[in-house]
Amino acid sequence: MLNFAIETAREAGQILLEKFGRKINISFKGNINLVTEADLASEKYIIEKIRSYYPKHSILAEESGESIVVIEGERTWKWIVDPLDGTTNYAHGYPCFCITLALEHNGEIVVGVTFDPTRDELFAAEKGQGATLNGRPIRISDTEKLSEALLVTGFPYDFAQRKNFARHFTEFILKSRGLRRDGSAAIDMAYVACGRFDGFWEEGLHPWDVAAGVLLIEEAGGRVSYYDDSKFSIYKPPICASNGLIHVEMLNILK
Ligand code: IPD
Ligand code: CA
Ligand code: CA
Repeated sequence: MLNFAIETAREAGQILLEKFGRKINISFKGNINLVTEADLASEKYIIEKIRSYYPKHSILAEESGESIVVIEGERTWKWIVDPLDGTTNYAHGYPCFCITLALEHNGEIVVGVTFDPTRDELFAAEKGQGATLNGRPIRISDTEKLSEALLVTGFPYDFAQRKNFARHFTEFILKSRGLRRDGSAAIDMAYVACGRFDGFWEEGLHPWDVAAGVLLIEEAGGRVSYYDDSKFSIYKPPICASNGLIHVEMLNILK
């Protein structure tokens, strides 16, 4: 199933690349939350492929919602799909976006794949088998202090309503070596997994934004939790993810 996820993400990546930089139809899901014809085309492709290979699996996909298949006595499998993470970047021709897919089995993420088609970078993880970038094993960074860390975050679409957002952002700017905001939570997390970033936090995300990233980071040796250090669930943001070494320092700011 890891190979299926890799193949599907690469194929959907081709769909995104073909439309990238061209004039495409854009509509709005909220004030600033876009959806483009590329999101829809990529999702349609992915869903049809899952349906044809795994007709008994459930699917939770950003644009179509959840379809649950209930089969008596069967163990449950669910694909969690973001067909285009980084839609705003994509719509503006900024080459930072990806497809991100995960497979949940009995409530546990067992496969996670994030594919950045513009850099041809495919991040993959399988529970208990480690994480890879284009087939080579990856590890989180060994940065020990927040003051030496490069961090990344995202701005939730409703950040105006989030009272701690500005305080967290300011404190991290002051206490880290640098802070980035690239517009794709799935790429942010893949970069923590391979050591390009040391830590990531964000509020207001959805299961499809983080499902693959959580597995990538954990399989690469990192740590993921809520702001109070309790056990993370992909269904309930916010998230703090790091190389583990700077986790407590991050939580001290986020608490
Ligand atoms: C968004 C991106 C962004 C994050 C937003 C997400 P989308 O996903 O991951 O980095 O800050 O909260 O909704 O809408 O481009 O799939
Ligand atoms: Ca997303
Ligand atoms: Ca999306």
